[in-house]
Amino acid sequence: MIIITVRDNLGKFWRAFTKIKGVREMIGFRKFSLTLLIFMLVLTAAACGNDTDAKPAAGSGEKYSFKLAHITPTDHMWHKAAEKFKEELEKNSDGRMTVEIYPASQLGSEADMVQQISSGSVDFGLITAAYMSSRAPAFTAWFAPYAFEDLKETNAARDTEIAKKILATLDDQGLKGLDYLFAGNRVMLFKDKEVKKPEDMKGLAFRVTPSPPLQDFYKSLGASPESLPLPEVYAAVQTGVIDGMDMDLDATITNKYHEVAKYAAVTNHMVWPSVAIMNKDKYEKLSDGDKKIVEDAIKVAADYSANTRASQEEEFKKTLSDTGMKVYEINQKLFEPYIKQFDEKYGPTDPLIQEFIDTFRK
Ligand code: BEZ
Repeated sequence: MIIITVRDNLGKFWRAFTKIKGVREMIGFRKFSLTLLIFMLVLTAAACGNDTDAKPAAGSGEKYSFKLAHITPTDHMWHKAAEKFKEELEKNSDGRMTVEIYPASQLGSEADMVQQISSGSVDFGLITAAYMSSRAPAFTAWFAPYAFEDLKETNAARDTEIAKKILATLDDQGLKGLDYLFAGNRVMLFKDKEVKKPEDMKGLAFRVTPSPPLQDFYKSLGASPESLPLPEVYAAVQTGVIDGMDMDLDATITNKYHEVAKYAAVTNHMVWPSVAIMNKDKYEKLSDGDKKIVEDAIKVAADYSANTRASQEEEFKKTLSDTGMKVYEINQKLFEPYIKQFDEKYGPTDPLIQEFIDTFRK
């Protein structure tokens, strides 16, 4: 476009210049042509160099080599979502942005990873909302029991004002909360007791992620919550240190808990988000175009995670049944008093938790 404009203007200049009396005779035609050619080249180069109005197609042209960390094994949905994020980011930046993924706690515990992200030695993390709730209490809201009908409805909640307000509570920790990625909802696994109603939980030593809202829910059911991180759970249930665990079907399969637990109550009582976070300083230094590339890539990964996982629910139940596990449901109505207790305890602790409850309770 610019080259065409310069060429047209030079054409006009040529015609006007050659009309000046005696010019051709003065310079001589050959010399004149050479002079004009050099003049055109200089002008064209200058015009291209000063193209301040031209906009790059996307992003800034900067190159980035990012690191992303998370805790799950490579066959868990969050790792697949991390790969999707990498693929999207690299594709949409035409290779300017690359991502190295560190799965399965390679960089330490979630506390270590968040520390590394806030200091900038790691750029991105997919960190459980359960852990994030220990740093920013509003994330507790996601553990309101039975707040959503299914994963589709849960995934749609990402786009609500309240979900975004909760992400924004990370702003003062050197972290940019980008989005949420959902794996399967929580279920209950039992080593050798078929629990048919909440009251059957009384006295069971039950593995629960070390996060107060999850632990309080199980205490209200009468169980004794044991705070075990994921890597210790298999041996603990195998040796009888615990009688069961709060888990998701994905991790049940990937960690082979069906080998050590006979019963799976598919309660879907809580959702299980990871929070996609980025070092805030690095996020803010990105051009607007690059911010959009990052945000779009995480959105695609989050939709991929929730939608793929939702379509696998029946297949996962069958996979577990086929191993000999008894897979069954417990009616949600039986949990109503415990849902109420949760809301009454946690709603008043934080206006954002109350807003979440008010938004999503039918
Ligand atoms: C858990 O601690 O139960 C867990 C963590 C990450 C993915 C799945 C389960």
